[in-house]
Amino acid sequence: MLCLLASAVAEKDSVYEVNGSLIRKQRQGTLVFKFQGYNCTLEFYWSPYLVHLDQPSSGAPTSNKKVRSTLKLDLLDPISRKWRDADVLVLNSGHWWTSGLHFQVGQEVKMNMSMEEAYRKSMETVMQWIKNEVNTNKTQIFFRTYEPRHFLFGEWNTGGRCNEEKLPELGAAPVLSLPLWTHIQFELAANKILPNRTYDLLNITEMSARRKDGHMSVYYLASHRAPMKRQDCSHWCLPGVPDSWNELLYAFFLKHQATRL
Ligand SMILES: *[C@@H]1O[C@H](CO)[C@@H](O)[C@H](O)[C@H]1NC(C)=O
Ligand SMILES: *[C@@H]1O[C@H](CO)[C@@H](O)[C@H](O)[C@H]1NC(C)=O
Ligand SMILES: *[C@@H]1O[C@H](CO)[C@@H](O)[C@H](O)[C@H]1NC(C)=O
Ligand SMILES: *[C@@H]1O[C@H](CO)[C@@H](O)[C@H](O)[C@H]1NC(C)=O
Ligand SMILES: *[C@@H]1O[C@H](CO)[C@@H](O)[C@H](O)[C@H]1NC(C)=O
Ligand SMILES: *[C@@H]1O[C@H](CO)[C@@H](O)[C@H](O)[C@H]1NC(C)=O
Repeated sequence: MLCLLASAVAEKDSVYEVNGSLIRKQRQGTLVFKFQGYNCTLEFYWSPYLVHLDQPSSGAPTSNKKVRSTLKLDLLDPISRKWRDADVLVLNSGHWWTSGLHFQVGQEVKMNMSMEEAYRKSMETVMQWIKNEVNTNKTQIFFRTYEPRHFLFGEWNTGGRCNEEKLPELGAAPVLSLPLWTHIQFELAANKILPNRTYDLLNITEMSARRKDGHMSVYYLASHRAPMKRQDCSHWCLPGVPDSWNELLYAFFLKHQATRL
């Protein structure tokens, strides 16, 4: 999105990150790009669960060394105070819901809570936050659905690859190998808490599923090719597939502006 917007600005120096931070795949934090003269910032916040990620709770058994952190399902990520007043808010959460987490609600560590249930609970927290804290007359809210990945012969950490993919899937729609329960749990949470039409869904999962050729594969390092066994088949090349998600976002945005006039 930054590239799309910045390409329309003649004076390139007038678009900058406020602290001079660079965009890096590994960077987990905050980026705030200012479009000088347009009264506009484009901000990125790394918050893969949207709810509060914390140190392992003192109440949790420490025998399981694989547990790296505790997710407080009833609290929104504290960084959310930075997004709350945005004019346009695009949220998503999916890929980071894997093992190695404890779930906590209030003071209680939920040792037996399933990933699905925890995800729904976190989404309910997000919806409740929107309902209570966000002025939806001002802020236009989008949820982006799960983006497909395309690892063959393994996963991201077991040598999965996509370097031989040179064409999209042109035949029948591919079977999605991703946890579609995120869609289901998301909808359950939204329908329970938010009034209709509080948000727009950027429903990009299926439309991106054919683009097994769209990932970075071994080309995610600036200086050289990555080893064959360390491929990235989840992030995308740019320009590329995410540009069409932005076009979808833009269409919804225009529609929203039009209905306000
Ligand atoms: C910029 O740097 C200041 C000072 O270190 C810090 O307080 C602020 O959060 C940073 N802003 C961003 C967007 O990184
Ligand atoms: C800049 O944008 C903010 C937020 O949308 C708005 O409240 C403010 O009036 C704008 N300022 C100018 C000078 O347009
Ligand atoms: C959690 O699951 C384990 C194993 O399935 C079981 O032994 C234990 O009683 C359960 N604990 C609670 C609080 O439900
Ligand atoms: C949003 O707009 C509606 C209709 O104009 C109004 O009734 C409501 O109070 C507004 N909500 C907020 C939070 O401003
Ligand atoms: C929201 O939309 C659904 C599906 O269109 C409908 O069944 C439901 O009654 C609506 N709820 C409200 C509060 O309007
Ligand atoms: C998302 O889009 C796909 C087609 O691309 C459709 O099959 C699916 O029902 C849509 N899901 C929602 C929740 O709108």
